[in-house]
Amino acid sequence: MNTEALENYCKPVYEKAPSLIHRWGHIKRAAVGAKWFVKILGGTKEEEELSYVAGLLHDIVRPNTEKIDHAVASAEEAEKILKKFGFAEEKIPLIVQCVRDHRKKPVQWESILHKSVFLSDKILEQMGAYIVFRRVAYAGEIEDYKGMTAEEAIPIRWENALKKTEKKFFPESLFKIYEYQNKWQIDFIEEFKKKEEWALNLGKELFKQGREGNKTLEQAIEEFNPVTEKGKEFKKEAIDYMQGKKFIEFEKMILGGN
Ligand SMILES: [Fe+2]
Ligand SMILES: [Fe+2]
Repeated sequence: MNTEALENYCKPVYEKAPSLIHRWGHIKRAAVGAKWFVKILGGTKEEEELSYVAGLLHDIVRPNTEKIDHAVASAEEAEKILKKFGFAEEKIPLIVQCVRDHRKKPVQWESILHKSVFLSDKILEQMGAYIVFRRVAYAGEIEDYKGMTAEEAIPIRWENALKKTEKKFFPESLFKIYEYQNKWQIDFIEEFKKKEEWALNLGKELFKQGREGNKTLEQAIEEFNPVTEKGKEFKKEAIDYMQGKKFIEFEKMILGGN
């Protein structure tokens, strides 16, 4: 399997992606996370490799709107790319299936590999403190909310996004990590609606960054200036996650142990 060549092909494509929150940082972390889920849920080495490839391709077609099903579009494109890179014929449908089913509420999962990108994309990349920054930036950049203010767009974005991470979509073995990751996004939106200073500051700043689109999401988070301890706590947690520092803790939440 020529994963390295594929990665070299994907990286510049994502670096030019229309949506700043769907650029290389998100893709690389989603791929690493998918592989990590396969490993801790007891998948094979081959499934680990395939899940990584699926993670690399999962948003390969990602317009800046929710009106197009980018998972279906990405699955079609992924199939073409995998053929071009000479991936084993019988493995291609497994990867494509993973890409196609990563977006909406889960289908009947056929394997650990099949659900790996969904789990990584949802539990790691669409929950936690990091998603607060990411989703606010998305509310700023998405074409669908053009003309709206941060106060108007952010609650609407939350309402739509929370439908994709309902607890019932996840197996009981993941409830502990689910609860942990979910509390950040709920905490933020409740306080944003109450116009708490830290939440308004975070919301308005990242919304502006999304709208301007001049920085990568990672830069925007790193340069964000929190005004209170709570803002600092969110920023630290988001950066720890982006730097891969949460995996040991996450593993304990799933497998138990101290
Ligand atoms: Fe996606
Ligand atoms: Fe994604």
